[in-house]
Amino acid sequence: MALQTGTFICKVIAIIFVSVVCGGQRLKGFRTFSRVQGACNETAFEDQWFIQKLDHFNGADSRTWKQRYFVKDQFYREGGPVFLMIGGEGPANPAWMENGTWLVYAQKMGALCFMLEHRFYGRSHPTADLSTENLRFLSSRQALADLAHFRTAMGEARGLTKSLWVAFGGSYPGSLAAWFRLKYPHLVHASVATSAPVHATVNFPEYLEVVWRSLASENPECPLLVKKASDTLMERLKDPKTYDAITKDFNLCSKLRLQSEMDSAYFLETLAGSFMDVVQYNQDNREFEGVAGANVTIKVLCGVMADASLGEPYSRYAAVARLMADTFSLKCLDAAYSNYQRDMSNASWDGPLSGGGRQWVYQTCTEFGFYQSTDSPNQPFGGFPLTYHVKQCAQFYNVSAETLAEAVAQTNECYGGYDIRTTRIVFPNGAIDPWHALGVTQDISPELPAILIEGTAHCANMYPARGQDLPQLAQARDHIGVLLQQWLKQ
Ligand SMILES: *[C@@H]1O[C@H](CO)[C@@H](O)[C@H](O)[C@H]1NC(C)=O
Ligand SMILES: *[C@@H]1O[C@H](CO)[C@@H](O)[C@H](O)[C@H]1NC(C)=O
Ligand SMILES: *[C@@H]1O[C@H](CO)[C@@H](O)[C@H](O)[C@H]1NC(C)=O
Ligand SMILES: *[C@@H]1O[C@H](CO)[C@@H](O)[C@H](O)[C@H]1NC(C)=O
Ligand SMILES: *[C@@H]1O[C@H](CO)[C@@H](O)[C@H](O)[C@H]1NC(C)=O
Repeated sequence: MALQTGTFICKVIAIIFVSVVCGGQRLKGFRTFSRVQGACNETAFEDQWFIQKLDHFNGADSRTWKQRYFVKDQFYREGGPVFLMIGGEGPANPAWMENGTWLVYAQKMGALCFMLEHRFYGRSHPTADLSTENLRFLSSRQALADLAHFRTAMGEARGLTKSLWVAFGGSYPGSLAAWFRLKYPHLVHASVATSAPVHATVNFPEYLEVVWRSLASENPECPLLVKKASDTLMERLKDPKTYDAITKDFNLCSKLRLQSEMDSAYFLETLAGSFMDVVQYNQDNREFEGVAGANVTIKVLCGVMADASLGEPYSRYAAVARLMADTFSLKCLDAAYSNYQRDMSNASWDGPLSGGGRQWVYQTCTEFGFYQSTDSPNQPFGGFPLTYHVKQCAQFYNVSAETLAEAVAQTNECYGGYDIRTTRIVFPNGAIDPWHALGVTQDISPELPAILIEGTAHCANMYPARGQDLPQLAQARDHIGVLLQQWLKQ
């Protein structure tokens, strides 16, 4: 093991609709987005590099690579705990070394803080490129073994072997925080697994059902208007004579062309994606991450949908698409599946989706599924069924529907899904966050408590506190702090 220092290069990754990786991109599956990554806000935190094994499950393979991490010792007091923030499916964002509720706990408890970037994301490149052949080294199991080796080696190097380590993570890294405690209980004393989808599932139609309910909680008419607009649009898509008008209405970058059901599904998913992203991150206090669009909330979108002066619901839906494009400073909306397919198939580290898009969809195809399909009748959108998502696994990575289904079953077999059993993990979730449907929202045992926060979105408790936070959000943050203090005495 060797530690090296590098320089932090502020890199904003351009993607199709939302401007930065962190911002809950509308890319399929990417909407899991962990909050601990993405957009760039320059900070004093320098890249550090850790020599990591390529394959933890083959003792005969000695290849290594450099994994990026950040460290903050400002709050550390001799004998204090070590906090490890787990990176996820995008570049690790050093803004989290300066802001975030975990640092409030760290200051109170005298903790040393680390954040470790996930293999294959951001600047942590284990292989020469992102070919499907190389992506076989990308899995949550390898990532957990990375965490274990980091904890062991860093413990030895810094005299922290006997310290109590606590893992933190939000979204997919929230699941990793839980599974790290499950699989390596001798290395990690407790975990805060925020908004963690612990149950893998190929089809995830419940996501859009929660979107319906979250829109309805703002205004009961809102999801009905969205549904009306979406139905009208789908009806018009049946007639190619409408395509010029649709191209203009939605400010598309190129004339709408629908040659296969993948094309229409991608277009419809792109438009629904605005609502999905806004619901997922509604009112989260994430400006410090450097993301645009934090002020576009459910209230704003439902306000547009209710504005009769804009015309029929279809026209209001188009207005939402233009509002989102403006918010992210896009000249037009690229809704062409062929461009998406081209970008997703680019296996270069210089490729347009190499910050995480190609990698995360690979993980959905080989571990988690999580496909936010329109297969439920109790949701507002249409036209992007499970088959659309599953076909992409074959197109991008040659993974068949059967292989996908087996892989997802194996993930639940490995980690236990909803039936995870260990101790000292807290599971916070937000009730309007669509991901809570795959999370632990009721206490499993006194040692595995759940905190379901009414009225908040994805990972709300991880963001910096502010005056207008709901009282139950402030209470949840305090509750987590109290649990950590109790557990660190055990
Ligand atoms: C982030 O941290 C900096 C430095 O401690 C502080 O000045 C700033 O107010 C924080 N921002 C938020 C949103 O809490
Ligand atoms: C970066 O973070 C600081 C402190 O939280 C904030 O004031 C500033 O607006 C952020 N910069 C960008 C570009 O978002
Ligand atoms: C969000 O904030 C930006 C920058 O201040 C502003 O230009 C934009 O109009 C705001 N959008 C909404 C919907 O309030
Ligand atoms: C991958 O993307 C990079 C950057 O956009 C581009 O230069 C390269 O030609 C692309 N590779 C392929 C095979 O398309
Ligand atoms: C795709 O997978 C099948 C079944 O595993 C295999 O036979 C085939 O060679 C693969 N095709 C490519 C292009 O890798």
